[in-house]
Amino acid sequence: RRGSLGVRAFSVEQEALVVKSWNSMKKDAGDIGLKFFFRIFEIAPAAKNMFSFLRDSSDLLEQNQKLKSHALSVFVMTCESAVQLRQFGKVTVKDASLKDLGAIHFKNDVADAHFEVVRQALLETIREAVPEMWSQDMKDAWEEAYDQLAAAIKSEMRPSN
Ligand code: HEM
Repeated sequence: RRGSLGVRAFSVEQEALVVKSWNSMKKDAGDIGLKFFFRIFEIAPAAKNMFSFLRDSSDLLEQNQKLKSHALSVFVMTCESAVQLRQFGKVTVKDASLKDLGAIHFKNDVADAHFEVVRQALLETIREAVPEMWSQDMKDAWEEAYDQLAAAIKSEMRPSN
């Protein structure tokens, strides 16, 4: 599935699978966001230590807000990534924000293995949230959108100046 420029094609159908499932999850976004992040910690308990707000804060509610907001960022940005991949054949997060994203993940020592854990947790969360829609094609579409977004962030992972 590689085009002549070496860009992997992301089809209208794949975009539709991502957008359709996200639209159906949106109304429960808060709950799904929390499940997503608890799943990450089930798969990799060590990931907890990476979140400064989990290390430092004893305020559970506050923790939940931040976890939810990060989980939602991952969902929303992966969904946007799917739209961009179909439109432009690549992920186009605005330069400045991609640099910031790279820097914040660099600063927090986020490694390839963590991106894999988050991907696995994301896919499992979606499968559980929309079992009636779930299919291999839907999995592939989310996976591809996530991997391309993760690659874009990783390519900017260096200290900020
Ligand atoms: C911060 C997105 C993957 C750990 C952030 C922020 C965004 C973001 C937008 C800044 C503000 C916020 O908390 O929402 C993403 C996206 C990812 C991804 C789109 C995947 C494509 C990961 C992974 C980890 C991780 C794999 C490690 C388990 C963190 C940490 C912060 C952060 C520790 C800093 C939070 C803080 O201490 O304030 N991420 N992230 N992220 N992310 Fe991610």
